[in-house]
Amino acid sequence: MSDVLLVEKLEGRIALLTINRPDKMNALNGEVRKALFETFRQLASDDDVRVVVITGAGEKAFIAGADIAEFKDARAVEQYRSMQAGNIYSLMEEFPKPIIAMINGFCLGGGCELAMACDMRIASVKARLGQPEVNLGIIPGGGGTQRLPRLVGEGHAMRLIMSGAMIGGEEAARIGLVEQVYPPEELREATLTLARTIGSRSPIALQAAKETILAARRMPLDEGLKFERAWFGMLFATDDKDEGVGAFLDKREPQFRGS
Ligand code: COA
Repeated sequence: MSDVLLVEKLEGRIALLTINRPDKMNALNGEVRKALFETFRQLASDDDVRVVVITGAGEKAFIAGADIAEFKDARAVEQYRSMQAGNIYSLMEEFPKPIIAMINGFCLGGGCELAMACDMRIASVKARLGQPEVNLGIIPGGGGTQRLPRLVGEGHAMRLIMSGAMIGGEEAARIGLVEQVYPPEELREATLTLARTIGSRSPIALQAAKETILAARRMPLDEGLKFERAWFGMLFATDDKDEGVGAFLDKREPQFRGS
């Protein structure tokens, strides 16, 4: 296991990933990206894990962005290639299980982009979120210009990306950048409670939900509805459907096996 990414398996089939560079506000460097890549690849086929929660170590930061020190001597072609090769954001969207961002502090630049590549975002009221790349003479490069307007609308995306301003957790919830906010001392339990609930559901149904909801971004409505119907029909071939329906009719809790 890498020191810069802590991986804990918690009760409820949860994997808790903690980016662990608190002295650098958990900035994403090459080592963290590599560890995230390897960890998501392993967790994809780990049947003990049904949901992933990702957060930052310490009290101050979720992730304060890409490691700016690595930008200093980077040139165009090598930066373009490294973004292409190291696209953790797309990997997370393709990951077949739900991912929850637990945003405990500064969530900036590549950190905000990583949170947006998660399936949902739960934040502390003390979190500070933003896309401050313009302050460095660049723009978001990890999907910010594409995922932010889809979440908050074009106007708020323009405002945040063009001003580089940071907003608090409550404003982020109001505009749709995060789904829920909690006082810092309640954030972990509230997030893990949600994760446990999701982790108790059928893993195949969860994968179907993730794939169909994400498809809504790229498919016209008629294609999306067809895609949904195909997944819906396919789920009737699973043991988990028989278990879920049977448990409801027998008035007992279902035990989903993911088959
Ligand atoms: N990349 C590299 N190092 C970073 C970093 C980043 N994105 N964000 C913070 N750090 C480092 C600081 O350089 C500092 O390191 P040092 O102690 O070795 O000097 C350490 O983390 C603590 O940060 P500091 O700036 O002293 O804390 P602060 O509380 O005064 O400010 C922030 C916190 C997050 C507002 C500020 O660090 C910041 O603006 N960071 C950059 C955010 C950004 O532009 N991200 C997008 C990058 S594309």
